[in-house]
Formats: sequence, structure tokens, C-alpha cells
Amino acid sequence: IESADRIYPPEYEGHFSRLLIKREEIIERATDLAKAIHNDYKGKRPVLLCVLKGAASFYLHLLEALQDLRQGFYTEFLRLSSYEGAQTSGTVKARGGLHYQDLTGKDVLIVEDIIDTGTTLSHLLPVLKREANPKSVEVCTLLTKRLQTPAKCEAKYVGFSIPNQFVIGYGLDYNELYRDLKDIWVISQKGIDFDPHKLHG
Ligand code: XMP
Ligand code: MG
Repeated sequence: IESADRIYPPEYEGHFSRLLIKREEIIERATDLAKAIHNDYKGKRPVLLCVLKGAASFYLHLLEALQDLRQGFYTEFLRLSSYEGAQTSGTVKARGGLHYQDLTGKDVLIVEDIIDTGTTLSHLLPVLKREANPKSVEVCTLLTKRLQTPAKCEAKYVGFSIPNQFVIGYGLDYNELYRDLKDIWVISQKGIDFDPHKLHG
């Protein structure tokens, strides 16, 4: 595999088909996006709303880059999921301790890990606008997938456009595994078939 220099827990051996994006490239791209965000929000204090768990790594690197630019912001966190395994379930479950009133009248920037079909965001956005009545809402996503049918929702800030393959690492999971990888990989069939119960003895 082309990526002999990349490290990962040994129990993941064979679980990837290829390395897609190196951590260093992600951090560099997060810095670019932070510049664009700073340019648009100068003099404002946007609420950076992290969609857990997948966006957590990207969120931290984005915040760091914004801090270096002396861009002020608020932080909020939201947990939601539309995925079961590698298949979108179509319904979105919202969890986590977000109080919509903390977003009221504020410039909200949703930070996502990946927009696939756009289903998740197309459900979240109207609810957020209705319940929280923010001043503005935009989306910053690390990844979008190149699909035949365009996504139901598009982000203003996009890190990388990737092929339509299931990716893992840097916060992105498959059945809660692989979030602990430093880089982003394409999952292999062995990775998909792997039984996580094997890890717990
Ligand atoms: P939709 O289709 O609603 O999907 O835009 C967005 C959510 O689905 C998850 N997702 C993935 N997670 N690798 C992952 O680890 C992937 O390739 C992938 N594609 C979609 C993700 O949680 C995202 O928020
Ligand atoms: Mg997600």
C-alpha cells in the first residue's frame, strides 16, 4: 500500500483500500477555509456549530486556524445522525445539549464532516431556522461526494470533493470504528465486514 509512512492501530490492518487525504493536507485546507471564513465574518462573532461526532477533528483544526487569524467566535455542539452502517437511513435523529436560543439572532456556521446526499442538512436547516431564528446560517463541510444526483443541500465552504466511496478516519466512522485514524482512507471490504465485537474480546 502506497502509504507505508502512515500509522494506524494494528487491528485495522487490511481494513483500507487506499489512503485518500493525509492529515497534513486536511490541516492546510482548514487553514484556507478559515481565511475565507474570516474574510466573510470579520467584525462578527459567528457561532461555530459542530456536528458531532464526525466533524470533531475538523472543527478543532478550523478553530485553531481562526484563532491564528484573531477571528472571534462562539462554540456550540450538536449530535445527529442519519447513517446506519454505510447506508443513509433517510431520517435524522437530533441529540445533544444544544439550546436553540443560544443561536437566536446570531450568525451560525454549521461545521460538518461530510455532505453525501445532503439529506441530513436538508432536515436540519429548516428546523434550525424555525426553532432558533438565527441572523444567518451557512455550512462549512470538510468533504462532499461527487454524486450523479446533486446533493439536496450545498455548503458555502467545502474542504475537498471526493469520489463516491465510503471514507473513514479523522473523525469519520463505520459503525463507530476508525474515528481514531489520523488520516482519511477509503474503506476496504475487509473493513466493512469486520465485526467490532472482536475488539472487545
Ligand atoms: P447525507 O447523505 O445526509 O449524509 O448528506 C451525511 C452524513 O452521513 C455520513 N456519511 C459518511 N460517514 N463516511 C462516513 O464515515 C462516508 O463516506 C460517509 N458518507 C456519509 C456522515 O455522518 C454525514 O454527516
Ligand atoms: Mg455526520
